[in-house]
Order: sequence, then C-alpha cells, then structure tokens
Amino acid sequence: MAYDVIFIGTGPGGYVGAIKAAQLGLKTAVVEKRETYGGTCLNIGCIPSKALLHASEMFAEAEHSFDALGIEGVKPKLNLAKMMAHKDATVASNVGGVAFLFKKNKIDAFRGTGRIVAPGKVAVTGEDGKVTEVEGANIVIATGSDVAGIPGVKVDIDEKVIVSSTGGIALDKVPANLVVVGGGVIGLELGSVWARLGSKVTVVEYLDTILGGMDAEISKQFQRMLAKQGIDFKLGAKVTAVEKGKKGATVTFEPVKGGAAETLAADVVLIATGRRPYTDSLGLEEVGVELERGKVKTDAHYQTNVKGIYAIGDVIAGPMLAHKAEDEGIAVAEILAGQRGHVNYDAIPSVVYTSPEVASVGKTEEELKKAGIDYKVGKFPFTANGRARAMLHTEGLVKILADKATDRVLGAHIVGFGAGEMIHELTVLMEFGGSSEDLARTTHAHPTMSEAVREAALAAFFKPIHI
Ligand code: NAI
Repeated sequence: MAYDVIFIGTGPGGYVGAIKAAQLGLKTAVVEKRETYGGTCLNIGCIPSKALLHASEMFAEAEHSFDALGIEGVKPKLNLAKMMAHKDATVASNVGGVAFLFKKNKIDAFRGTGRIVAPGKVAVTGEDGKVTEVEGANIVIATGSDVAGIPGVKVDIDEKVIVSSTGGIALDKVPANLVVVGGGVIGLELGSVWARLGSKVTVVEYLDTILGGMDAEISKQFQRMLAKQGIDFKLGAKVTAVEKGKKGATVTFEPVKGGAAETLAADVVLIATGRRPYTDSLGLEEVGVELERGKVKTDAHYQTNVKGIYAIGDVIAGPMLAHKAEDEGIAVAEILAGQRGHVNYDAIPSVVYTSPEVASVGKTEEELKKAGIDYKVGKFPFTANGRARAMLHTEGLVKILADKATDRVLGAHIVGFGAGEMIHELTVLMEFGGSSEDLARTTHAHPTMSEAVREAALAAFFKPIHI
C-alpha cells in the first residue's frame, strides 16, 4: 500500500485528521474535489460568514451605538464590494494556511472526486476526466454535508434570488426584503448580517421557537433581542412553496396547527432548512458501507461495517459542527496510529455568532427534565455586570445547570456579548467533571464579562455576591 491512510475531503474533519495522522508518523494522502482545501467551513461556511458577521457588526455599532458613547457625527457608508473583498481575503489566507500545513507535514494531495472502488482503493476523477487510483491501508470518509433544501418542496436555488448559505454570503447588493426560511443557525447568522446592512428580514420557522433544541428560556430571550434589532418572525409556520417571480420571489407558508396560507414577497429568499450528509458518488453501495438515516454508520472507533473504511464529521451521527469534526479527525488519526482516540460528546460547545452571541454546552433544562434528572439552576444577568455596563453590552444572561445531589455541572447556556468565548471555561469545567462550587471558588479577573459566569456558578452553588 502506498499510504497508511487516505482522507476523502479536506474540511475541518479531513484536514485536521490528515495533519494529525502525518504528525503521528502515518503516510497520509488527501483527496479533494474543490480547487482549495478547507471544505465548506473555510471556503463558503464558518470562515467567510464570520468575516461578514464581524464587518456588519462593526457597521451596525458605528451606526447605532457610537452616539451613546459620546462619539458623534459617525455616519458609516457601506461599501459592500470592499466588505466582500475582506471576506474573500480571509478565506484565501485560511485555505492557503491548510495548503502550507499539508506541504509541511508531507501530505500528498490528489485533486478530484474520490470514489471508493474497493477497501483500500480510491479512484480519483480529475476535472479533465482522468482517473488516478490511490491505494491506502485505511480510508477515512470526511466528505461533510450539503444544503438539504426544504423537504417535500421543490426549490430552484439559483444562488442569486433564491440562495443557500453559499449565495447568501456573496450577494452583490443589499436586498430590500430578505425572507429567511428556517430559524436555525444559518438563518439567524446570515439574517443578522443583512439586517445590519439594511435589509428588512423576516424569518419563517416551522417550530414555535428559533434555534430548536436550544434551552427554551435562552431561545425566547434571544428572539426578543433579534426582534428589537428589527428582525420579524413567523413561527409555527410551514413553508410550502418558494417561487421565483419576474422580480424577486415569493414564499408561501401555512400555520403548522392548520389555517390559511400566507405569501410573502422578497427580493431574495435564503433557504436555511438544514444540511444533509454528503455521500454522493462515493461508491458506498458498491463496497457495502452501511448508512443509517442517510448518515454513514460507524462504531465507537469511527470504523464503518467495512474493515479499513472509517468516517468522521457531518457525514456521521452527531451535531454538524466543524469542531466536532476536527476532534473526530484527531481521534481517528490517533486510533489508526495505535493510540486511544476519544471525543467527549457531552462537552461539545455550540455557538451562534450573532450579536449578541448565543453559546451552550451540555444539557438544556428541557433535556434534564425529560431525563428525570434533579437539577438546580444558577443565573446571572449581564445588566448586573460592571464591565458589560461600561461597554453598553448589558443584554443577556448566563445560566448554569448543575446536578442537585452532586453539584456537577451538566449544562451551561449564555446569551450575551462574547458568549462564544466565555463558554469555554464551562466546557473545560465539564470536561473535568467539575462542580458549580469549583467554578464559584475560582478567581475571575475584575472587571470582566466572565465574572457573570462565576456569579451564575455562585447562584447555582449558593448565592451570587453582586445581586
Ligand atoms: P438548522 O437545522 O440549524 O435549522 C433549520 C431550521 O429550518 C429548523 O429550525 C427547522 O425547523 C426549519 N425548517 C425546516 N423545514 C422548514 C419548513 N418547511 N418551513 C419552515 N421552517 C423549516 O439548519 P441550518 O441553519 O440550515 O444549519 C445547517 C447546519 O449547519 C446545522 O447543523 C448547524 O449546526 C450548522 N451550522 C453551524 C453554525 C455554527 O455553529 N455557528 C453556523 C452555520 C451552520
């Protein structure tokens, strides 16, 4: 065999896994059909969207928040092309970084679409149709996911008028009206970008809450914050048609509980109704790799039912998150190198990069109730945090859920400025099986937003000091 391991796909799962494998001494190859490495996340997902989220947040701050801080006369003017150029430059430097790391770690890259023709054998079809066969003792499927569309509804995504996240980060002008189908992570992040830049945004969501699966109290508060920013919500609304007109498009939806249908007109419609595992043209059926509800089925060591064929990331069970894929990439590399790779699925943080951010780790209150676990809650609002007041970032709260009998922290939820950074002390705490007392007794620098985290821990353990 030419290689110890071949990774198909170079997104956060594949590229991190490949680099780790090479560092552990395995002869490693990657197969990538895109022109650049990094997959959806680096090219058209996490990274470019964060460039736009940051730039549009700065724009909105300059427009709405400076005055209260005594900075007058600032009237920001949008140069969308320049903002997009910043996004493109961010992507270019990130994907370039992956190419550099591949070279540095002596990873061979094969450009084209990979198909598993037999265990240990991947046929790579290049753009010119030329097929190269690559042999490796192990194959790791890391092909990620693709836009799912709306189940049961025919939608013609042209990436101009009806867009997925791909077109949603590349519009050449700010749409006056943007209708977002799906109040999940993508819908709310990209909806926020365009709302800040001037669009009237309406989110149509099937469930009665946004960010389904999120702690209900946090989700409700967060929705109120977004509504204050001017985003409209149609909840409990099932989209039944998205049609292109002469100009723009229309979205038809009906109440999930039954009732009359409504139609909204939009200049642009963003379809953000989830993603599906990407297993197209991998040849899985021929080699007999089993799927389970569309996802590649693996054992606890990421091996499929076919020996030597592994899978990680969005294509397998679990949350579709870049960092979950990365950690599985590291774990599978360690397993292939004879070590004990492992991912703690109870401590995977998730962050919505809106303004304010929403971050959580572990169980929600609803999940604990459902599981019949006795818990206690500690909460602390940012209105009572000195640093938050100084920065005029007082929206939101920290909520910590701990086991009533043992005090072990089982979940934590933050909505507020910088939530995506603050969540990590709770993630580390949970990784070490820590209690709310552990966190409450840990000194936190003053004045920081993170003191609200400590105060919430104090509230769970005993009583907060500052409220
Ligand atoms: P999602 O699963 O987060 O949300 C999709 C929403 O669409 C759901 O709330 C669902 O109820 C709704 N929906 C489905 N069919 C509908 C219909 N016919 N009418 C109205 N609403 C309907 O999916 P999303 O936002 O597309 O994101 C895809 C994946 O990418 C997710 O797994 C997400 O975790 C991941 N992602 C993560 C990010 C982050 O961690 N910051 C950022 C962007 C994406």
